[in-house]
Amino acid sequence: MKLYLKIWRQKDAKSKGAMVDYTLDGVEEDMSFLEMLDILNEDLIAKGEEPVEFDHDCREGICGTCSLMINGRPHGPDSLITACQLHMRSFNDGDEIVIEPWRAKAFPVIKDLITDRSAFDRIQQAGGYISVNTSGRPVDANAIPIEKEHADDSFNAATCIGCGACVAACKNASAMLFTSAKVSQFALLPQGQVEAAERVQNMVRQMDLEGFGNCTNTGACEVECPKGISLENIARMNREYLSATLKG
Ligand code: SF4
Ligand code: FES
Repeated sequence: MKLYLKIWRQKDAKSKGAMVDYTLDGVEEDMSFLEMLDILNEDLIAKGEEPVEFDHDCREGICGTCSLMINGRPHGPDSLITACQLHMRSFNDGDEIVIEPWRAKAFPVIKDLITDRSAFDRIQQAGGYISVNTSGRPVDANAIPIEKEHADDSFNAATCIGCGACVAACKNASAMLFTSAKVSQFALLPQGQVEAAERVQNMVRQMDLEGFGNCTNTGACEVECPKGISLENIARMNREYLSATLKG
């Protein structure tokens, strides 16, 4: 395949970026999207030009770092996969592909396609944990009976990989889907009840401090989430927040 790429290039956080055109020949349909970018970078390096910086780590849909807006969609045209799981067979010879970083005030661009997503880490640190005493005689987690439905919903929430596609897809750059998944995974389990009220209030406060927008129930986040995190988590977080506020 011969492809016409339009890629966001930005020297550093302070520079103004711009779209730059590249033509790439010899792309095979069984290459992954990131392998296609590797080939482009090999060409650029051979020509003495600066390679395109992009984030990646696991390249198997687990780490959530491959944050790419591809033809206007977070993680590209296919559903329920990350950019690293996208293959070139989803494109055709002669296609134009526009590749940009996530666009959100709380995710500033560091260089080219890489954004600073440490805002998510700070939301997680504000309450995304449970305090368990492991120094003495910890209770075996399996000794606490949990309804299957709750265990499944908690597990589904815990599959969020923190990629930020929900923020990138949202017209308000809201982080409600991410934050609600992290709240829900604990709120649904007995082990998460001790700090439940504190957790939801602290995580929502941090989310607002980071500059993410609010949720207006459009649902683009759920459509673009590579892990299928449901909007039900946002509803659950709102209930948790309301009940914590009324108690407090
Ligand atoms: S909710 Fe989905 S889109 Fe948002 S960070 Fe988690 S996995 Fe990514
Ligand atoms: S590189 Fe880890 S999810 Fe894509």
